[in-house]
Amino acid sequence: DWQMASFAAETIQHIKDTVGDKKVICALSGGVDSSVAALLVHKAIGKNLTCIFVDHGMLRKNEGDDVENVFRKQFDMNLIRVNAQERFLAKLKGVTEPEQKRKIIGEEFIRVFEEEAKKIGHVDYLCQGTIYPDVVESGTGDAAVIKSHHNVGGLPDDVDFTGLVEPLRSLFKDEVRRVGLELGIPEHLVWRQPFPGPGLGIRIMGEVTAEKLAILQDADAIFREEIALAGLDKKINQYFAVLTGIKSVGVMGDGRTYSNTIALRGVTTSDFMTADWARIPYDLLEKVSSRIINEVKQVNRVVYDITSKPPATIEWE
Ligand code: XMP
Repeated sequence: DWQMASFAAETIQHIKDTVGDKKVICALSGGVDSSVAALLVHKAIGKNLTCIFVDHGMLRKNEGDDVENVFRKQFDMNLIRVNAQERFLAKLKGVTEPEQKRKIIGEEFIRVFEEEAKKIGHVDYLCQGTIYPDVVESGTGDAAVIKSHHNVGGLPDDVDFTGLVEPLRSLFKDEVRRVGLELGIPEHLVWRQPFPGPGLGIRIMGEVTAEKLAILQDADAIFREEIALAGLDKKINQYFAVLTGIKSVGVMGDGRTYSNTIALRGVTTSDFMTADWARIPYDLLEKVSSRIINEVKQVNRVVYDITSKPPATIEWE
């Protein structure tokens, strides 16, 4: 891909010229945009870039370790991972209202990031994975807020920076992916489906607890594994499990059960503003359902969400 190779080479040179020997930090989430942006800066200035990865404990199964492995082991980046699950769950204790959950997670995220940034000492630049559609979108600014978005791009007011480094400002998403592949980022990260900043926190209806997170992570991992095995991971644009907060009665062997309901959500969409529910083959749904029931102890019912957007949103909260 000579086009993206030359984009990468020019951008790395430009960062070298402008940043020089100054220090840069970035918030790394494992998402495509922040990963590619950070890697370009890393190629330009090496250890003068520090990446802060705030693991709020509401990531998908094994995701935190995966991000750490790729960026620390494969790319030898200066990466600080903060394991902050307890801290986030303490703030979320007793909280059930979706907007309040989003707000708490977003604010705590910034607080943790700022604390880590202060430990590093003086920093000159903040690197962000802003891409062209973000630039255009923030220019309009009149859309009603349906959900307050927490995005690892939108960061702190409190830390002083000389400036921003935003190497992806002119690129569309597919170009960002091509640059990522050119830089050697693994396919599964480059093609990662969108994942909201508040993470599984907004896929657990009601209060978020460590126990519920573990149930949802296990169910979600099975769903994602089967979708990938069926070769549908690029055809269905977003797919995940939701812990509905509904308990229902079931029968297993000779016994009655009263346990959790998992909802599966899968959508096809081009822009995530509108979406259609994905026509996942019944046989595949059947397989996912029986695996979840058999492998995840606290679940006795699985349902599939057949609502498009609008009127529903893609996420449940
Ligand atoms: P909804 O649920 O509004 O979601 O139909 C549309 C898309 O946005 C993602 N989403 C988020 N992404 N921070 C993000 O970075 C957030 O707070 C957030 N909330 C929703 C959602 O996963 C879907 O792709």
